[in-house]
Amino acid sequence: MTNDMSDDLQTRIEEAVRNPRNLGEMKDADAIGTVGSADCGDMLRMWVKFKEEGGRKVIDRATFQTFGCQTAIAVASVATEMLAGKTVAEAQSMSGEELAAPLGPLPPVKIHCAQLVEGALRSALSGETAPEPKGNRSPTSPTLLSQLNAAQPADRKVRIVLDS
Ligand code: FES
Repeated sequence: MTNDMSDDLQTRIEEAVRNPRNLGEMKDADAIGTVGSADCGDMLRMWVKFKEEGGRKVIDRATFQTFGCQTAIAVASVATEMLAGKTVAEAQSMSGEELAAPLGPLPPVKIHCAQLVEGALRSALSGETAPEPKGNRSPTSPTLLSQLNAAQPADRKVRIVLDS
């Protein structure tokens, strides 16, 4: 954890990392988005399931996996909780800052961690307006681990978050 964090923010992040919500692959997902950060080389994947509610298509649930820092895990945890019940348009309009809002303001050095979550969400939802080639959206696409390993130098330390 960096020195730029307030004690409150650090505590909220540590709590979210200890008990992350919506962690893990979703086998019956309708949409999947994966992004990597150019800033730090970390990766995050988000799965989204939709449902009909009051004649509108809304997000039923969202889950994630990441090879990212604690901030990315914490933001993804609170963001996936917030996304339930939102329409695609509402979710697409959310910035990384908004997705991280339950944690409190992030220091500048950690903004890109929230943007990783925003990017995975946008990637997943992009198929809702412009369908991707089928292979990119299949739950049987290459795993996050295989994609990460292909993208990383051999000496890079990989942090793995296990589904519990
Ligand atoms: Fe890479 Fe936070 S440092 S996502």
